[in-house]
Amino acid sequence: MKIAIASDHGGFELKQNLIDYYQKQGKNLEDLGTYTAQSCDYPDMANKMADEILQKKADLGILICGTGIGISIAANRHKGIRAALLYDDFTAEMAHRHNNANVIVFGGRTMNFDDVLRRINIFLNAEYEGGRHQNRLDKLDM
Ligand code: RB5
Repeated sequence: MKIAIASDHGGFELKQNLIDYYQKQGKNLEDLGTYTAQSCDYPDMANKMADEILQKKADLGILICGTGIGISIAANRHKGIRAALLYDDFTAEMAHRHNNANVIVFGGRTMNFDDVLRRINIFLNAEYEGGRHQNRLDKLDM
């Protein structure tokens, strides 16, 4: 599975830490930026990620801003993007089982590395249930 990652400055440190962690595990995350800790605009990063996912260049996106809120709002303006802010473990599971999120979102200033890593694993280990949930997802893109 190809995973892309992007953040604004508020999520930069967490993004770098995740990239480093996965690299040590032998897995490369595709880094869409931002590439420095300098202030930037989260919609630009969300738009980049939306293009990546919608053009099927990556299977899953990880987006990070300070709270995860702004970058979620921006990503979800793109038809076909289902960005879910994984604010706890239960949500991490449901975001896959029920929402089949194609982008998962975290807050670099509101969440710690261990919690984020655990939620990524919970999300990846869960399976989309389809059925009645697919009817609902279809209505999102009407
Ligand atoms: C940037 O200062 C901050 O507003 C942004 O990272 C994010 O938290 C917005 O929702």
